[in-house]
Amino acid sequence: MAGFIPENILDDILARVDIVEVISGYIPLKRAGRNFKACCPFHQERTASFIVSPGRQIYHCFGCGESGNAFKFLMRYERMDFPEAVETLARKAGVTLPQNESINNKAQGLITQLYKINELAAEFYCANLNSQEASKAKDYLLKRGVSPETIKTLKIGFAYDKWDTLINHLRGKGFNLGILEKAGLIVSREAGGYYDRFRNRITFPIFDIKGRVLGFGARVLDDSLPKYINSPETLIYTKGRNLYGLNLAKEGIRGNDFAAVVEGYMDFIIPYQEGVKNIVASQGTALTIEQIRLLKRYTNNVVMIYDADSAGELATLRSLDIFVEEEVTVRVVSLSKGFDPDLFVRKNGIGVFSKEVNAAAGLFDYKLAVLRSRYDTKEITNKAKVSSLMLETINKFKNAILKTEYLKKLASELGIKEEALLEEAKKKKANKFYDTPQPNFKNSPLSVSPTEKLLMSLMLEENSLIGRVRETIDLRDFKDERISRIVSLMFSLAAEGKEAKPQILMNHLGDDISHLVCEPDSLPEGLSLKHKERMVDDCLKRIKGGGEKLKREELHKEIKIAQDSGDEERLNRLIKEFHCLIKTSYNKKKNDI
Ligand code: GTP
Ligand code: MN
Repeated sequence: MAGFIPENILDDILARVDIVEVISGYIPLKRAGRNFKACCPFHQERTASFIVSPGRQIYHCFGCGESGNAFKFLMRYERMDFPEAVETLARKAGVTLPQNESINNKAQGLITQLYKINELAAEFYCANLNSQEASKAKDYLLKRGVSPETIKTLKIGFAYDKWDTLINHLRGKGFNLGILEKAGLIVSREAGGYYDRFRNRITFPIFDIKGRVLGFGARVLDDSLPKYINSPETLIYTKGRNLYGLNLAKEGIRGNDFAAVVEGYMDFIIPYQEGVKNIVASQGTALTIEQIRLLKRYTNNVVMIYDADSAGELATLRSLDIFVEEEVTVRVVSLSKGFDPDLFVRKNGIGVFSKEVNAAAGLFDYKLAVLRSRYDTKEITNKAKVSSLMLETINKFKNAILKTEYLKKLASELGIKEEALLEEAKKKKANKFYDTPQPNFKNSPLSVSPTEKLLMSLMLEENSLIGRVRETIDLRDFKDERISRIVSLMFSLAAEGKEAKPQILMNHLGDDISHLVCEPDSLPEGLSLKHKERMVDDCLKRIKGGGEKLKREELHKEIKIAQDSGDEERLNRLIKEFHCLIKTSYNKKKNDI
């Protein structure tokens, strides 16, 4: 990861890459005088108001106001964080980034090694699949309709029916047993020694969005149990934080503006192979908030595809509410009994499958239909029961229009008075202490703002700083809701005179965020309290200083006016000013790292 990067290096990178080339790698640009034009990738439009200026090396959309330099484009379009964007362009420009001493080099080194080990293991398993010993595995895959090309694309492989082939292979490459265990690929015996975790199984590498191997799922060749074994959690692999197939499907998801989500590996593999390119697999569990936020990088629309069994469960219905909380539109397909997506496609063809997906019912209709199939709503008590369950979902809509429209619809569907429903809705809300109005956060990206994270790390390390933060900050100032929750918890603990240490915080936090307090922080060792105080003040200033954005918006309005009135001179001056503003803002950002 990129560390603190001196300004001259950032300038160097920007000087060597051409923003036109960078952006045209993603969207087609047309020349328009000195500039290039396109339809804006950040909002829906028919006429092109997205301008890329080769002279100034910035882009700007006169429709939605989005603008910036090449770093910013990657951050917005690829949803990279700043260090990632810098790294990407540095690579393109052939600029070597300095290593940051304050980042724990050892930990960084370990992470790099874990990626390497998983990569080598994937290669090893792939090669195995072509051997004579693996013919039954290969036959099995072919019999299930997995093509040789798919096997190659997904790097599907085979782990031999032996205890130590992977151990021997990787030791031969110079890795010690301790690190292989940290990679989750080998298991230690109580009596001493180690053995290969995956044996006599087909291996499916689990990739992150960049296509790096994080771990494996491994399936038996018959009906024995457990059917799948997965890599344990490691420094690089956390369950529920990635989606199987997303590395391949992300463009398809963006292009179709929706993601189809299935449960199993095979349920991804067969439809993907047959042409559904906007599909991912949750790997067997209900989607976590993190997985939903991962999808939100590419779309705000999700179609969940369930087999008949799980579709009817109340737990499944409940799990759908988090889409509402995340303001993602969710629709549901429930396949007929006995079918999962893999079987459905093989039996009925991809055309029928796509039709089902496209005709998926919205959450409201789907949930109501499921509930009605359980409870006969001609009965008055059932009406109340179904209303109550529906209200749990409806109450989660943040948008008042959606909320009232669904209330109206529910009243009419069940033949009850709207006022009565409204009253129940209010009661329900009041009963839930945790349902107090939440500050309205911006869509928080998955990657935490480095400043917010730094502030949290400082507070965690030095509890005496909590009071200082509390005096200055409003919890709504945080862009990231998770950080805000963590900080709020630290405030309460401190108020009760308790220690706010990671292990204590973890007990109070959901799985979706507790990892944030246990990740190693990048604070240099041996900072004095005074130094830390200064850092805290600096963070607070940055977090509170949203003023820049306002200035940009104003400038943008003026630019539009100047453009409309054809005042070329003024326009140039304003654009120059705009460019300066962006430059200072990324210089500031750079200091965040
Ligand atoms: P096939 O039986 O090969 O069609 O498997 P599938 O990929 O369709 O899986 P299934 O629908 O049975 O289960 C969905 C997902 O749940 C799997 O892809 C796994 O990620 C997970 N899963 C299923 N069985 C197990 C198991 O025994 N252990 C673990 N850890 N995960 C499992
Ligand atoms: Mn299956």
